[in-house]
Amino acid sequence: MRRFFCLALLPLAGLADAGPGRELAARQGIAHPAVIAHRGASFDAPESTAPAYVLARELGADYLELDLQRTRDGVLVAVHDDDLQRTSNVARRFPERTSSPVSAFTLAELKSLDAGSWFNQAYPERARERFEGLQILTLDEVMDIAQGNPERSPGLYIETKVPGLFPGIEADLATKLQARGWLDKPGRVVLQSFDRNSLALLQRHLPQVPKILLLWVGKGSIEPASGQTFAESGETDKAAFYARQQPRSKAEFERWLDYARAAGAIGTGPSAARTAGGAQSYADLVQPWMNRMSHDKGLLVHVYTVDETVDFDKVMAAGVDGIFTNRSGQLLRYFSRPAALGEAQILEANGY
Ligand code: G3P
Ligand code: CA
Repeated sequence: MRRFFCLALLPLAGLADAGPGRELAARQGIAHPAVIAHRGASFDAPESTAPAYVLARELGADYLELDLQRTRDGVLVAVHDDDLQRTSNVARRFPERTSSPVSAFTLAELKSLDAGSWFNQAYPERARERFEGLQILTLDEVMDIAQGNPERSPGLYIETKVPGLFPGIEADLATKLQARGWLDKPGRVVLQSFDRNSLALLQRHLPQVPKILLLWVGKGSIEPASGQTFAESGETDKAAFYARQQPRSKAEFERWLDYARAAGAIGTGPSAARTAGGAQSYADLVQPWMNRMSHDKGLLVHVYTVDETVDFDKVMAAGVDGIFTNRSGQLLRYFSRPAALGEAQILEANGY
């Protein structure tokens, strides 16, 4: 009878792998299933800005996710892209440096950019006047937001982005986390990278902090069965191309799980193919056999980046242990962990 009760509450196909993943997560102090706010609540507010992170915190996300880069004067900042064109007015503010990397700018220069208006133009249905002129955030500022409400205590899920461009960034991060007292509680911080060297450096500097090796099918990661890159394929629809990509073999997938373990990772962050496609849709690396293999090797699975119920159903049924999402509110409601207020109300209550 009790078993029937549990079955009625849980996504059916997810049951097979829920056990091992939950246990692995508990051992690391990581919520299960984990709600990871990808660049903050970036569906509803400009990615990696204050309203995106405040909203994710107030919604109750387990982790605020950020991509770590470093300014020319050595300050750690949260920016996803290699350059600033998509998410700021760099082309108008610094026309001669439009495509320069983040590392070419001082903090003062980055702070002079408008990192919010692009969102209003790209998503007029979610635009807000108070998004205009938002600033790029430092890691310190993201930490301040994470700690900004004593009733909420999201962790940080930090990716070293293009780490080859930032020698020593892993040590800088360790120094910052230590100085700010963020290493006090197991699982409060999770570290992630696509780059195995960076992961090994994180392991050297922060051996006690859980780490995730990010996976995708393509250059620098899992070899595709097709043997082709998107560019070589001549296709125009990136999501459709990636949706067809598979690892070259089971052994190739397994090789990357073994890399993760060898680098000291406690899990992987594989890509997902989204039903609706789009820019954040990649190869489906959370097929049930893949998640089973990961769990058998003692690895957690945190999939990126899923926003819709149809895909929440799919990845949970396949046995993942956590989800990177741009829509923390949707995912928390899906997990029956709704906030008292909706996204718009929270933004308004916080001055946006
Ligand atoms: O960090 C997980 C996921 O964010 C990886 O993809 O490109 O959005 O950083 P990306
Ligand atoms: Ca990321």
